[in-house]
Amino acid sequence: MARTALVTGGSRGIGAAISKALKAEGYNVAATYAGNDEAAAKFTEETGIATYKWNVADYDESKAGIEKVEAEVGPIDIVVANAGITRDAPFHKMTPDQWKDVIDTNLTGVFNTVHPVWPGMRERKFGRVIVISSINGQKGQFAQVNYAATKAGDLGIVKSLAQEGARAGITANAICPGYIATEMVMAVPEKVRESIIGQIPAGRLGEPEEIARCVAFLASDDSQFINGSTISANGAQFFV
Ligand code: CAA
Repeated sequence: MARTALVTGGSRGIGAAISKALKAEGYNVAATYAGNDEAAAKFTEETGIATYKWNVADYDESKAGIEKVEAEVGPIDIVVANAGITRDAPFHKMTPDQWKDVIDTNLTGVFNTVHPVWPGMRERKFGRVIVISSINGQKGQFAQVNYAATKAGDLGIVKSLAQEGARAGITANAICPGYIATEMVMAVPEKVRESIIGQIPAGRLGEPEEIARCVAFLASDDSQFINGSTISANGAQFFV
């Protein structure tokens, strides 16, 4: 029977490419979204991938949503914690709300997404936890104290989960995309974006599909011994 994958923030940007790549690999895929009903409906119509609306920052909503997905699509074998937001501001201007919104969505959101599926993975002795971190969690970023903190936190999460899940057939890994051509990066002021591209030895932004292919590999049986790792995909912009 085909395995089931859940992709948070899976109807737009990198998440949409991940959802489509996993469907192409033969998985049953469910994608979550937070607010954009129109984009989600269009995505389902175009791809046939079921979309579910909930706020990953809310534990009870996440748990209830996951129970619905498991009843309608199947027990979740692969979870891709991808949903994330930015609230960029230089630290001296960053408000407590900008800090809290990003922590709640990007970091607590990973807990809220993985915690409800973890017991089922342990029982079935198989699981793939794939967290979409960022180059900016590795190197830090001007105006992203909040975002960089969450993305660095992702790496601690997977390294810890890897140790807890290894004997139960569960792996947990992070992917650190560099700057990818998505709405999030396009929202950066053009002058700043041009200067960022100048710092990428590949001379271009990455494509969402280039991240999706990493996820497809980590989801597969072939990746069983890769556990607690961080895969960088950034066009040689930064090395750990
Ligand atoms: N490094 C050093 N200095 C920088 C800088 C940088 N990367 N970006 C901006 N600055 C400087 C500006 O040159 C300016 O300096 P001056 O005052 O001397 O002219 C100052 O910082 C900007 O100060 P402002 O008070 O005008 O800033 P602001 O309140 O208007 O905020 C900003 C502007 C939010 C920082 C805006 O420049 C911005 O969005 N920068 C991009 C931040 C970024 O790279 N975010 C990544 C988004 S993509 C992503 O997150 C996906 C991923 O995972 C990779």
